[in-house]
Amino acid sequence: MKFFLDTANLDEIREGASLGLADGVTTNPTLISKEGGVDFKQHIAAICEIVQGPVSAEVTSLDTEGMVREGREYAKIASNVVVKCPLTREGLKATGILDGEGIKVNVTLCFSAAQAILAAKAGASFISPFLGRLDDIGENGLVLLSDIIEIYSNYGWKTEVLAASLRNPIHVIEAARLGADIATMPFKVIDQLFNHPLTDKGQAQFLADWHKSGHQ
Ligand code: E4P
Repeated sequence: MKFFLDTANLDEIREGASLGLADGVTTNPTLISKEGGVDFKQHIAAICEIVQGPVSAEVTSLDTEGMVREGREYAKIASNVVVKCPLTREGLKATGILDGEGIKVNVTLCFSAAQAILAAKAGASFISPFLGRLDDIGENGLVLLSDIIEIYSNYGWKTEVLAASLRNPIHVIEAARLGADIATMPFKVIDQLFNHPLTDKGQAQFLADWHKSGHQ
């Protein structure tokens, strides 16, 4: 399973890259806005200098024509830019057009298996089911992820399943168990994956014993 960082923060992306855990990056308008008044295209270019893998840049137009225009512009920023289009009728039309021009699209805001089928049919390179946001409204995001993986594998569809809106290590472990192609997560979740109190306790004990026996 590939690890993508779900952030637009350059320090976090550099740290993720140094850990070998930045196979790609997903951004969205909310994440970009958290970085202050950055120039969008310059910021995406800066991310693409750090990370070799796919970097998602999301369109903000609501109509197909606007999304296609934005997508073509974003694709010129760097060869690893992936255009992110919303799972709307207009977004899927734009996905088909951009895919036809050889521009990769990550279809975002997917909340049902039916939507995921439409995205694959439209030519999406990636589908992003939002697990955490489904959990937030009392549904089970992992059930959706499992359904999409099963359906796509029935037909050998090439669209990669990108588990998104991950909020905790259980989401990451279960996404891996189900066979998601990619998990994108905030840096906070990367930190959580490392942590275990018995590791800290064991390390402290080893060092205490080492020093007690006269070693420096
Ligand atoms: C994915 O591409 C989105 O940027 C992201 O996973 C959304 O996560 P959130 O629901 O935590 O905002």
